[in-house]
Amino acid sequence: MTSSTIDDLAALLAPLRTPFECKSLKAGNRYCMAPMSRYFAPGGVLTEEGAEYYRRRAAAGIGTVITEGTGVAIDHCVAADTVPIFDGDKALAGWERAVEAVHAEGGMFVPQLWHVGGCIDFNFPDSPHAPLVSPSGFAGPDVAGGREMSDEDIADTVAAFAKSARHAKDMGCDAIELHGAHGYLFDQFFWDKTNFRKDRYGGPDISDRTTFAAEVVAACREAVGDEFAIILRVSQWKTYDYEVKLANDPDEMYRWLDPLASAGVDIFHASQRRFWEPEFTGDDRNFGGWIKEVTGKPVITVGSIGMNRDLMEDFVEGTSSPMLNRLLDLMKMFERGDFDLVALGRVLLADPDWLEKIEERRIDELTPYDRTIALKQYEHP
Ligand SMILES: Cc1cc2nc3c(=O)[nH]c(=O)nc-3n(C[C@H](O)[C@H](O)[C@H](O)COP(=O)(O)O)c2cc1C
Repeated sequence: MTSSTIDDLAALLAPLRTPFECKSLKAGNRYCMAPMSRYFAPGGVLTEEGAEYYRRRAAAGIGTVITEGTGVAIDHCVAADTVPIFDGDKALAGWERAVEAVHAEGGMFVPQLWHVGGCIDFNFPDSPHAPLVSPSGFAGPDVAGGREMSDEDIADTVAAFAKSARHAKDMGCDAIELHGAHGYLFDQFFWDKTNFRKDRYGGPDISDRTTFAAEVVAACREAVGDEFAIILRVSQWKTYDYEVKLANDPDEMYRWLDPLASAGVDIFHASQRRFWEPEFTGDDRNFGGWIKEVTGKPVITVGSIGMNRDLMEDFVEGTSSPMLNRLLDLMKMFERGDFDLVALGRVLLADPDWLEKIEERRIDELTPYDRTIALKQYEHP
């Protein structure tokens, strides 16, 4: 890339303006809105303002809107009563409004189906919620959280994911994303620091601890049929440990993710805090690049795209500002085939017009991000 390419951002990013298709997901471009919890759904129902917030991002050119985490059809799915739920007439009507609004702008709509497992909500620890459950009574290493799930709890939870997946298909969503990342329920099964089960959901190898997630994927596949796209979001990092790795090498990554691909995952969403960081030593591919290598599936990359600081720094204090140089790396990796889609988080929370402003190089007009933005109710339309 020449130094002039960064001056013509529209030309640099043009390859991301190409369509992407995978089963029911037929996106006009490669940009996704990353899932971001907002906690503004009283009683679990997404409001009109919520629908408008998603519509606004689709109208500004984001091809695929992945929603905030939304609880599945079981009472212990979330740890705050302002998280939207993907079940029940009222809550589904709230979501339907958002689906229609995003579709009217030509966007794809993908709800992120979430179960927190044993994790209390760091943002709203006092919010009312049903008693939590987890694989072995732990939310993190030596951190108690949730009661240990019985066989019946597991079967009910698998069924709850399938039920919400079916709602999504019936409502006209274009795919579902299962939240398998960041230390929540799926991850509590994946991680040997939170899964001590002696039954078929536990065991010494990562492939043993993948059974629960694979059963959820298979049940969702059964519920939505072969042609409806299923995305699974995974991460190495957890909120209880930013540096931990579930997969220490490509072979371990294969043992973790291949059973999930076989169970029916169509696209992996590779959650990483900084997209440019290599996953394993001796090779410059990132987490997503390696997932694509070991599974052969399409991949979404994410993590500080267009930002100078990462998510966790923002949770503490200060302001993140636009950073453009890394877009050269992003495009080099995209052209090399490391990933198929890119997800934008905080830049879109702060500024729905991020893409347009970037392509037109109106950098001074971009809204910087700080943590107070996420706490304000849709004040950044
Ligand atoms: C306010 C906020 C809420 C988030 N909520 C979720 C969530 O519900 N589900 C999820 O998978 N990730 C969630 N994330 C992580 C983002 O999807 C994304 O991976 C992360 O912000 C990194 O992307 P970015 O650097 O472009 O912001 C959240 C991030 C933020 C800032």
